[in-house]
Amino acid sequence: MRTTFLLNGSEITADTSPTTTLLDWLRDRPGLTGTKEGCNEGDCGACSVMVTDTSGARALNACILFMPQLQGKAIRTVEGIAAPDGTLHPVQQAMVEHHGSQCGFCTPGFITTMATAHLNGETDHDTTLAGNLCRCTGYAPIIRAAKAAETAPVPDHVDDSQLLLTKNTTGEAPQEPGAEPPTTPDALAIWMNENPRGTLIAGATDVGLWVTKDFRNLGPVAFLNRIPELSRVTVTEDEIRIGAATTLTDLHGVMADHYPAFAELIRRYGSVQVRNAATIGGNVANGSPIGDGSPALIALGATLHLRSVDGVRSMPIEDFFIDYGKQDRAEHEFVEAITIPRQPDHLRCYKLSKRFDQDISAVCGCFWINVADGEVREIRLAFGGMAGTPKRAARAEAALRGMPWTDATVASAMQAMVRDFTPMSDMRASAAYRMEAAQNMLLRAWLEDQGQATNVLEVQA
Ligand SMILES: Cc1cc2nc3c(=O)[nH]c(=O)nc-3n(C[C@H](O)[C@H](O)[C@H](O)COP(=O)(O)OP(=O)(O)OC[C@H]3O[C@@H](n4cnc5c(N)ncnc54)[C@H](O)[C@@H]3O)c2cc1C
Ligand code: FES
Ligand code: FES
Repeated sequence: MRTTFLLNGSEITADTSPTTTLLDWLRDRPGLTGTKEGCNEGDCGACSVMVTDTSGARALNACILFMPQLQGKAIRTVEGIAAPDGTLHPVQQAMVEHHGSQCGFCTPGFITTMATAHLNGETDHDTTLAGNLCRCTGYAPIIRAAKAAETAPVPDHVDDSQLLLTKNTTGEAPQEPGAEPPTTPDALAIWMNENPRGTLIAGATDVGLWVTKDFRNLGPVAFLNRIPELSRVTVTEDEIRIGAATTLTDLHGVMADHYPAFAELIRRYGSVQVRNAATIGGNVANGSPIGDGSPALIALGATLHLRSVDGVRSMPIEDFFIDYGKQDRAEHEFVEAITIPRQPDHLRCYKLSKRFDQDISAVCGCFWINVADGEVREIRLAFGGMAGTPKRAARAEAALRGMPWTDATVASAMQAMVRDFTPMSDMRASAAYRMEAAQNMLLRAWLEDQGQATNVLEVQA
């Protein structure tokens, strides 16, 4: 499959298998071995590259990025961060001065991520660097370097946005006749009808691992990044319509304005590099019981829209999840969009994981609790990590619906939750811990509502 893009400022058309990763291609073909392979599963950031498109520059993990995902974009690897005359980029110079590198294996990934944050004027370095792991230097010197470079001007050559426009690479690369990829939802519906066992690839933060870890042959594939309509977000008076291929980063921007608790949950999702790739449609479609998007969308009362040659089929998003590994989606259907009603905000989200960043939830609880005149008028308590699917706590909801919002009713809802779920024990948490954590999330929502301290440090003070 042919893909045209800019690589460190020069236009390239690469003809690769659809599932060749950018990391493999960079190291094998142009021999740009500065980009490193660490985990090969999106966890360590050693393979980070800067990718610019019409929406700006973002750090992405090259190890789980397939070549066709780069169509029309500009890639900058660590080899393209210093100026052509060899002058170091401010973040490189600061890393030297602040001793930010020891063995150096992680350093190219840090440099590209730091240069991307520097270009975007982002100064929350704990967040921007959460997806880059270093085994030997320790993070303090690296953060000091990032801070030191903050005010230095961005070198012109690093910003590919203008070049992207002048080189005009954003159109489709010419393909072999008959191999043109779908570029509209209609064309995708036809493609799925003809390839019911084909694989859709959105952000590839799941599918990438099927290739790099399971060495799976995916058969026919279609790339959603080639269908701009699927990444569109439309906000009307009544609803927010989110195209299935909207990235978690873009969704964060939208939710920050409408449902800040969801935005805060997204900030805890993977790392910057993962959020820049992963899509909300992929997160829902994979049906994972520990995906973070679904509990929030269920609590918000969202609707899922499936599309096929037969038309559009819509359902409350919670009905999509039938059982573990089983969703209400026919082979020839794809997730086209999700709509969230616009309504006064009653959302709370709690994610419990072993690490704050870059970790999958042990339990994720998202609650919509509308209390008026001291009485619970509307309630949706949605959990991830408590069952084989993302699921509402129906009995706990019933214990609160229409009841006074008091410590006594909350206690009885916590008790009722025991009959809602039979969680499993695994490496993330034991069943008993999960149950207690889920119950306490409800208690926390109530305490927060009463203005009581819920943070351990505040409670001890
Ligand atoms: C390092 C790392 C950290 C992660 N952290 C988190 C986390 O904190 N929270 C969390 O919830 N997840 C996390 N994940 C999991 C992953 O990011 C999500 O499941 C992701 O949202 C999948 O979206 P994607 O666009 O990458 O999907 P892809 O990998 O492209 O696809 C996933 C599945 O969905 C299908 N699919 C994709 N789009 C559609 C569509 N529109 N219609 C029908 N089917 C479709 C694909 O065919 C495939 O079966 C993490 C993953 C990695 C690698
Ligand atoms: S090699 Fe670890 S994130 Fe890519
Ligand atoms: S310097 Fe060795 S892993 Fe970071």
